[in-house]
Amino acid sequence: MQIFKDKVIIITGASEGIGRALALALAPYGCKLVISARNLERLNSLAKELAELGHPPLVHVADVSDQVECTGLIQACIEAFGKLDILINNAGMTMWSRFDELEDLSVLSQIMQVNYLGPAYLTHAAIPYLKQTQGQIVAVASLTGMTGVPTRSGYAASKHAVIGFFDSLRIELSDDNVAVTVICPDFVVTQTHKRALDEQGKPLGATPMQESKIMTAEACAQMMLPVIAKRQRLLITSFRGRIGRFFKIIAPGLIDKIARRAIASGR
Ligand SMILES: NC(=O)c1ccc[n+]([C@@H]2O[C@H](COP(=O)([O-])OP(=O)(O)OC[C@H]3O[C@@H](n4cnc5c(N)ncnc54)[C@H](OP(=O)(O)O)[C@@H]3O)[C@@H](O)[C@H]2O)c1
Repeated sequence: MQIFKDKVIIITGASEGIGRALALALAPYGCKLVISARNLERLNSLAKELAELGHPPLVHVADVSDQVECTGLIQACIEAFGKLDILINNAGMTMWSRFDELEDLSVLSQIMQVNYLGPAYLTHAAIPYLKQTQGQIVAVASLTGMTGVPTRSGYAASKHAVIGFFDSLRIELSDDNVAVTVICPDFVVTQTHKRALDEQGKPLGATPMQESKIMTAEACAQMMLPVIAKRQRLLITSFRGRIGRFFKIIAPGLIDKIARRAIASGR
């Protein structure tokens, strides 16, 4: 993990959940962190925690659905540190509604804008600097980027887009020695489930998950660190996710049943 020493790392979606846990897990290895999200208060609270541990980060507020703000985030990083080594595209949002019950179709474009176009905007602005450092792009996708999941159609579409996009970029950037790592978490205890948009496009407010039965954000961050350090191409955080990839080829109906059951049971 010494590889992270003096590396300049941007984490989007750092105010909550996996991004926050990742910032706290990375900081002790001596990297220079840029933490970003929309909520300044929550970012400042994380910055205070990191500063107390001896690792003050740069805080930069940005909405990843806005291309100008994405460019501004990359520029702020370069102005502060003169380089960028790792861009972690983690910010994201989800939904919780059957498609045929969705009353507000703008949910689909909102999710696509944040989960897919945001990382694309940021990555486009970051690539010149990542080429200079032979750096790395990390995309926090989802297991839902590899298979269909009921109540998540728009989210699944956005995460399939993320995986297709970054798998393509990996090939394009290989001659420049810029690595691309895709992370596919299974369910993780975070705010995302409470914030998931319902059929009217409003946050659920309460989590439908069995939180005691699913992975914590801290455990997810700990799984991510060695995979990022080794510049590996893919992490799938659960056993069912790892074997599911192969069963999907020979018994896709079984994978559909597992996805249906996971949503029904919230784990
Ligand atoms: N939790 C899971 O079960 C799970 C499973 C698979 C994949 N993932 C993925 O993991 C990533 C992190 O999610 P999480 O579970 O940690 O969720 P979370 O607790 O809801 O955190 C999401 C983060 O993204 C930020 N964000 C949301 N919209 C944004 C926008 N428009 N611009 C900038 N930042 C924005 C939020 O901060 P602000 O509101 O302050 O902007 C927050 O910091 C997401 O990409 C998610 O899809 C999560």
